[in-house]
Amino acid sequence: MTRTVYVNGEYLPETEAKVSIFDRGFLMADAVYEVTSVIGGKLIDFAGHKARLERSLSELEMVSPVTMDELLAIHRELIAKNDLDEGGIYLQITRGAGTDRDFVWPDPEEVSGGIVLFTFAKPLLNSKVMDEGIKVISVEDLRWARRDIKTTQLLYPSMAKMKAKKAGCSDAWLVKDGFVTEGYANNAYIVKDGTIITRQLSTDILHGITRAAILRFAKEAQIKIEERPFTIAEAQAADEAFVTSATGFSQPVIEIDGATVADGKPGPIAKRLREIYVEEMLKTAI
Ligand code: PDD
Repeated sequence: MTRTVYVNGEYLPETEAKVSIFDRGFLMADAVYEVTSVIGGKLIDFAGHKARLERSLSELEMVSPVTMDELLAIHRELIAKNDLDEGGIYLQITRGAGTDRDFVWPDPEEVSGGIVLFTFAKPLLNSKVMDEGIKVISVEDLRWARRDIKTTQLLYPSMAKMKAKKAGCSDAWLVKDGFVTEGYANNAYIVKDGTIITRQLSTDILHGITRAAILRFAKEAQIKIEERPFTIAEAQAADEAFVTSATGFSQPVIEIDGATVADGKPGPIAKRLREIYVEEMLKTAI
């Protein structure tokens, strides 16, 4: 099926959508993005993704070419046009296309930002990964130091993912100064003696929208939380490990650098939090 996508003000068949070769997103990764999941044709935690997008834009002094209300309307229109039931929407806003390649940012009054959105269909609720768990390897975290801004500079996470793939794993956990920062495209957690341990928010990690919700639900379920860095050795000796992201919810990790986590089976806390997450988020889906 040919998708209908949105590009700079127009809904077009994906095969006809084009962006300028001078778009700074293309030339310089001068762009921010969001991925929002869709269940039953509804957006999960749009408010969270919208708030993070506004923060990413403001940190980079970038101006959105559409208002946030228009953005919601575009998301909904794409869901309708593509008859999307389960999956997600990718959104990217760039600083737009100047008249040439230039390290100097163009004046937003003169050059409007670029915007692209497209849908993707993907089963989210019935996931094989949830039943079986994922295997991860550790890789040195060599990304830039403003990981709290959700930019499209994803070459290093992509290299880390390829390294994992070559090692027969699906994911990479990134390690800085001996401590795990996060997953290549998710936030990382371990559980020890009933306490969830995950790195505290800073510029070292992306402030996951799913992370915020999962920690809120964990707190409500009286599960103890420690926000602090942890090492790979600590993770390998944990009772449970998992990752969170918009399209993965909470996914159990069963192996880290070849060492089995606990009995090698998905842990109960990740499973429970996933169930609560889906149930609660569906209530506020729009
Ligand atoms: N990745 N950390 C990193 C580095 C990420 O790229 C992501 C999301 C997360 C989780 O954030 P959230 O819960 O808001 O999805 C954490 C998206 C899904 C991606 O790049 O496809």
